[in-house]
Amino acid sequence: MTSPTEATAGGKPALVEARGVGKFYGNVPALTDVSTAVRAGRVTCVLGDNGAGKSTLIKILSGVHRHDRGELLVDGAAVSFSGPREALDAGIATVHQDLAMVPLMPIWRNFFLGSELSRGRGPLRRLDVAAMRATTRAELLRMGIDLRDVDQPVGTLSGGERQSVAIARAVHLGARVLILDEPTAALGVRQAGVVLRYVARARELGLGVVFITHNPHHAYPVGDRFLLLSRGRSLGEYGREEIDRAELTRLMAGGSELDELAHELDRG
Ligand SMILES: Nc1ncnc2c1ncn2[C@@H]1O[C@H](COP(=O)(O)OP(=O)(O)OP(=O)(O)O)[C@@H](O)[C@H]1O
Ligand SMILES: [Mg+2]
Repeated sequence: MTSPTEATAGGKPALVEARGVGKFYGNVPALTDVSTAVRAGRVTCVLGDNGAGKSTLIKILSGVHRHDRGELLVDGAAVSFSGPREALDAGIATVHQDLAMVPLMPIWRNFFLGSELSRGRGPLRRLDVAAMRATTRAELLRMGIDLRDVDQPVGTLSGGERQSVAIARAVHLGARVLILDEPTAALGVRQAGVVLRYVARARELGLGVVFITHNPHHAYPVGDRFLLLSRGRSLGEYGREEIDRAELTRLMAGGSELDELAHELDRG
C-alpha cells in the first residue's frame, strides 16, 4: 500500500496528488478519504466497479468538480481548480470517453480544434492548413501512430484509433498528466491493445498517466500502480511488485461475490 513517502519519492513532489479527498453529491458521499499520487513516467490505474467513484475522482483531478474534503496538490502546492481550463493550464489533460470530436471533420482539424494555427495579420490572417496537417502527421508519428491520411474524416477511424488521436493531441498540447476515463471500455481485444500501446508510449515520453478501467487485464500490462475503489472508498493502492494479476482480478471482482454468483447461476 502507498506509504506517506510515495508522494515524494525521488525527492520531487508528485505532479498531482490527492490527500484524503472526499466528495458529496448532495447528501450522498460519492468519494471518502481517497489518496493517490501521480508521478512522471508512471501509470496509475484506477479500478473499481460501477459507482465506485472512479469518475468522481478523476473529475476532481481534472477540475470538473471541486473536492469538499481533503487536499489536492499540484507540484506539491495545494490547489483548488475552479474549472477544467485551470487544470489544463497546470498541464492536466483529460480524454473523456465521449471524446468530443467532430466526425465529419478531417483528423488534422480535430487535432487542432480550439487551438488552430494561423498565419498573416489583420485581414490577411488565415488558417495555416499546411502547418496543421504537417504537425498532426508528425505528432501522430511521434506517438507511433501511422494513419494513412490525416485528411480523412475522424468518423472513418475505429474507436481505438480515435482514442489514440485524442491521446496524441493531449501530448502535443503540453500535458504533463494524462487522464483517460475508460478508453478501452467499448473496444475489442485488438483495438484495446492499440490504445494500451499509446498509454505505454505516453509514459515513455515522461507523462504521468491516470488510466481508469473496469478491466484488470487492461490495467495489468501497463500499470505501475493500482488504486482500487469500492463504494467511494479506497481498498488500497498497490505497486506492481506488490500484487499479481490474479489478486488484482480477485479484488476487483469482489472475490466472494463472484463465487456466490457462479454458485447461484450454476446449471449443474
Ligand atoms: N452528478 C451526480 N449527482 C449525484 N450522484 C452522482 C453524480 N455523479 C455520480 N454520482 C454517484 O456517485 C457515485 C460514484 O459515481 P462515479 O460516477 O464516480 O462512479 P464510477 O466508478 O465512475 O462508475 P462507472 O464505472 O459506472 O463509470 C455513484 O453512486 C453515483 O450514483
Ligand atoms: Mg465512471
